[in-house]
Amino acid sequence: MLLAMLLTCAALVAPARAAAAREVTYDRYSLMVDGRRVVLQAAEFHYFRLPSPRLWRDVLEKFKAAGFNAVSLYFSWAYHSPKSGVYDFTGVRDVDRLLRMASEAGLYVIARPGPYINAESSGGGLPAWVKTVPGRARSSESGYQAAYREWLHHINPIIARHQITGGGPVILYNAENEYQVNTDAAYMQDIQDQARADGIDVPITTNDCCDGGSWSSTWATGPGAVQIPGIDDYPQSFECANPGLWGPWGEGLTERLRDDIPVFAAEYQAGAIDVGNAGYDKCRELTGPAFMKYFYKNNLVTTGATMFSYYMGYGGTNWGWLAQPNDVYTSYDYGAPITEARRLTPKYDEFKRQGYFLQAVTPLAKTDPLAAPPVDNPALTTVARANPDTGTQFVLVKHADRAATSTDAATLDWAGHRVPVQVKGRDAHVLVAGYDLGAQRLTLSTSELMTHAAIGGRDVAVLYGTSGSPGATILRYGSEPRVTVLDGRVTSTYSGGDLRLDYTHEGLARVLVTGGGRRPLLLLIGTDAEAASFWRTDTASGPVLVRGTDLVRAASVNDGTVRLTADVAAAGEVEVFAPPAAHRLRIGADDVRVTRTSSGSLLGSTRPPGPAPLPALTGWRAHAESPEAQPGFDDSRWTVADRTTTTSPHPPKTLPVLYADDYGYHYGNVWYRGHFTATGAETTIDLNAVTGLRGNYLVWLNGRYLGSAAGGVQADSGDQWTPPNPDPGPGHFAIPSGLLKPGADNVIAVLVANMGHNDDWIADDLRFKQPRGLVGASAGGTPISWRIQGAAGVDPVRGGLNNGGLYGERTGWHLPTYPDKSWKPANPAATPLPPGVTWYRTSFRLDLPANQDVPVGLRFGGEPSPAYLVQIFLNGWNVGQYGGDIGPQREFSVPAGLLNEHGTNTLALAVTAEQPVPAGPGPISLFAYGNVRVD
Ligand code: GAL
Repeated sequence: MLLAMLLTCAALVAPARAAAAREVTYDRYSLMVDGRRVVLQAAEFHYFRLPSPRLWRDVLEKFKAAGFNAVSLYFSWAYHSPKSGVYDFTGVRDVDRLLRMASEAGLYVIARPGPYINAESSGGGLPAWVKTVPGRARSSESGYQAAYREWLHHINPIIARHQITGGGPVILYNAENEYQVNTDAAYMQDIQDQARADGIDVPITTNDCCDGGSWSSTWATGPGAVQIPGIDDYPQSFECANPGLWGPWGEGLTERLRDDIPVFAAEYQAGAIDVGNAGYDKCRELTGPAFMKYFYKNNLVTTGATMFSYYMGYGGTNWGWLAQPNDVYTSYDYGAPITEARRLTPKYDEFKRQGYFLQAVTPLAKTDPLAAPPVDNPALTTVARANPDTGTQFVLVKHADRAATSTDAATLDWAGHRVPVQVKGRDAHVLVAGYDLGAQRLTLSTSELMTHAAIGGRDVAVLYGTSGSPGATILRYGSEPRVTVLDGRVTSTYSGGDLRLDYTHEGLARVLVTGGGRRPLLLLIGTDAEAASFWRTDTASGPVLVRGTDLVRAASVNDGTVRLTADVAAAGEVEVFAPPAAHRLRIGADDVRVTRTSSGSLLGSTRPPGPAPLPALTGWRAHAESPEAQPGFDDSRWTVADRTTTTSPHPPKTLPVLYADDYGYHYGNVWYRGHFTATGAETTIDLNAVTGLRGNYLVWLNGRYLGSAAGGVQADSGDQWTPPNPDPGPGHFAIPSGLLKPGADNVIAVLVANMGHNDDWIADDLRFKQPRGLVGASAGGTPISWRIQGAAGVDPVRGGLNNGGLYGERTGWHLPTYPDKSWKPANPAATPLPPGVTWYRTSFRLDLPANQDVPVGLRFGGEPSPAYLVQIFLNGWNVGQYGGDIGPQREFSVPAGLLNEHGTNTLALAVTAEQPVPAGPGPISLFAYGNVRVD
């Protein structure tokens, strides 16, 4: 009976699945899905940097609306596995849900499960417990092999069930990350063998770095070779402090690696890490629209790449202890096209202009180099490609000297016509000729083509060019058509079958062409800014173009009504190009009054969002912490630290081994208590600790604070350039007279920060397996017995990276439920801080308007002190770190989901001061990054 039922169910679902199943193939030109060529335009997204699944959908919809057809996803092993054998794929870790959302958003997925991902994440995505596993990480050595196979056998089946071949979105599987650094072919091969065994049947790719020692060429056919190797390129460097740079790391042309595969820009720069602490706005400038126009278009036409993945589309937040300590701070905004608070930027506009073009003009998916048509000004040059089947040509017009900053004009001699072109400094245009634009024949245009669509029996095309530059568009007709200039200044001539339109790009010109043996054509010819105001969505009744609104997520056309799901930040015009039967417009629940324009579109106005005031943060209460520093503190339940061996390649300076990871404490602060029976001859406590960059440690003896020292960092011991330092993070603390109790128990208490784990970029174990915590301890040679305490277990909701081992964290002071009524009222900014840890808490109520997206941030006024480090907890979530010289950040994004937008929120600050400080952090306030209606 049960079998019969199962068979019936299978019969019901099978056809649908079978129909949806697709095949991915490729040749030297492009990927193909069921034989149809695809130009892959992906943006990178790290779900683990946005711990709010419902906002994943927002980001994915924003990608789609910018003309991306794919999302590239790293899967972070560390994020899912707090210890060997333990894996969590629920809640904010529910990647099954993520992959469903990608599918619902209409995006393909490049799945990148590592095992190593780098990404400036702690350990490069390797869980810290892997530091204690024998066998070199990122190799085929046995201890590591068992560990990474464990991860792969958890993540691969999830990815496998979302593959395109089963009707899902996953189109590619990327093995490892920039693994040219340490070529262990058996490891590369095994990752792929495991993937295949786990049911991965889409093409396997890898991302190669730095043009050198190329895995992909050296190992092109041997063990470990993947099907489609690609190249990572960051031509603009990461020097955000100097945003005027222009390709200091090269021309950024993605090499063709093999003749049987497409050219794959596996990671192409779309932002930067802020290594110099310049702030992400500067990174956005460094990698802004000028860079995108020149470098992306140059890459497209010069190399003929058809697979692009831009790093990052949305960067997000290094919340908890997610950051690798050497290159990043809490924000991982990355200067991406979408900000950390999910706002759209001018870079987004440029992605949209280019992305729509890539999606609309299908001959781009198969092109060969072509002799370029000449220009008559040596300041400019051209590069060309053509589709061998359709003859469609793509001509890149750019400066001969890529660093030129002048505006130069020329006449382009192309396809039997002489047409004007003009290029600003640091700009480039991709022009199209010989193209069947819907039912039209485009001879050529010196405007760039953003998109075109057949809407209601006519073709509508959006063309654009630099404001003030000349443009010419030539179309082919069987007989002279009728030209109506609806808006703007456009002249037309007709001769020998060619209709030529001449104009200057200014505002938005509209030209209607009818007759001439073709269906009507509406040309919308604008500046860059006008082009960016268009949104295109594809509905069951065909494509719809929308001008205005701040985002269009979806549209439908039914019963004479166009319904938009759109974001609106301010009152303004909205214009919709839809089939003529549609005469009403609805945005969300609003009926928008519309009139029909001479362009045949519907024109109305949008309703602005209502105000969304935020409360002041008052009612702070404070409580001193660090009871562990006191001699009478009961540490009997702490872990005894008595190991004499370690898997770390860095030998301890003294025994026992005190490395935090070796005792299972991997993230955040760790306490040590050392007991010794003093002889009375001890004069100093001598310690060494490794914390990662900007970390420190605080030391007490018998309850008296002795001071602090800076912890050791990566360069101390363990990169390929610096020999290991035998004395990392030293601290020598004189014992004040009278403090020691000869013949009795004396207690050293040490609070050691762990700023995160080094990455493993060069796969040599020295960086990655650099210890955290104490690495040496002595009290004049007197034996010390040690106990260690880190985080008290793994938060089941927030995960293992949320908490370290501060007393307050171990006892829930960061949690909303903690009763703090007995704490003393205190304004953090006006209260002196003693050395050690002090906590502050307050709560606030929000009731943000429904149907509005108001991303909220927390702002620290005043100057942060390098003498304190603040861990910020919102409703128990560790949303960032402030002060302690940790970076330029003063504003912290607190995403909805973590933030209760309709109720009470609890804010808790754990402030660790290494010396007395006259005042704590603040004043602290809430602010809104934006306010849009989301209907
Ligand atoms: C690449 C790496 C990424 C990320 C990027 C810089 O080399 O593959 O994971 O680290 O550099 O942000």
